[in-house]
Amino acid sequence: MNQELQQAADKLIRDIFAVRKNENVVITADDDTNMQVVKVVVQSVKAVGAHPMVISIPTPSGVGKAADPELPIEPLSQALIHTDVWIEFNHQWLLYSTPFERAEAANKKLRYMCLVDFNEELMIRTIGKVEVVELRKFMLAITAKTKAARSMRVTTPAGGDVTFNIDPSHYTACDSGDASMPGIHMLTGQINVVPEFGSINGKIVFDGSVTPPLGAIPDRPIVLTVEKSKIVKIEGGKDAGIFDDFLKRFQDDGMLRMAHIAYGFNPGAILTGNIVEDERVWGCTEWGIGYVSPFDAPPHGQSAKSHCDGICLNSSVWLDDCLIMKEGVIVDKDIRDLVPSEINK
Ligand SMILES: [Fe+2]
Repeated sequence: MNQELQQAADKLIRDIFAVRKNENVVITADDDTNMQVVKVVVQSVKAVGAHPMVISIPTPSGVGKAADPELPIEPLSQALIHTDVWIEFNHQWLLYSTPFERAEAANKKLRYMCLVDFNEELMIRTIGKVEVVELRKFMLAITAKTKAARSMRVTTPAGGDVTFNIDPSHYTACDSGDASMPGIHMLTGQINVVPEFGSINGKIVFDGSVTPPLGAIPDRPIVLTVEKSKIVKIEGGKDAGIFDDFLKRFQDDGMLRMAHIAYGFNPGAILTGNIVEDERVWGCTEWGIGYVSPFDAPPHGQSAKSHCDGICLNSSVWLDDCLIMKEGVIVDKDIRDLVPSEINK
């Protein structure tokens, strides 16, 4: 395990971040972080002759801006503004908090990656064992195909059937295991699309993790009825009721609006109830609800008090009425040969 874990950490630092000698690497953590993961990443940073710095804080009660009142905003911001690399291993994430926003605005060289709630096994499965060079070719091809389309339809065996338009002015993020350039990066194996606002219609069924508020797979699939991108009905079991209450408690129209959809394409990811891993299970789609940043959907994004995500397993996807993925299996003739060999085993 230790050797496999160290190899995974080396891959993160050498291959994905391409950390160079004398660069500064800040690793953030909180009281709920798995410190074994932090320890091996520190070793990998030292091994390439760079300078690691671990900043650990008491776990805040909220995430993003909701964490602000409990954060050491000034010292944390200053460290993040001056570092080359920031790897976030926090449980309650700092993404979109004030220190994050300050760093993003002032530090144009920053390479950031959000790796919340990581543990040893997750790091080995989703980083250590994933061949990123092969995966990247596939992911770039499906990203290009998606960006070129005007409309998208997604169905799932659980009963989902939803359509929407693709807005070419919105940013399509492809996280394929390359964090060597400045920017906001996520764990390998996700392509994110922000649909044209107001264009989403149909049913979306969450049968993987829903986070927040559940932080787990629901007791029964949660069925959302969506009209013009707004959730008008939520049905299912006990967890559907909890989810409905959670969204309505914000008393914010933005928290009833669909935000983004992402394809999951990490060959190592398995369904565990951890959203970071579940949303990368091969062939799933993940829907976000609520806040969208102005960067992802210029010029204003979508304002909302918070953001949550849910997973739809084994998705079928049509781009401009052409089926490219059938229940999680790539069928498009242009890209099916690019699917990493570990998926076809
Ligand atoms: Fe999201």
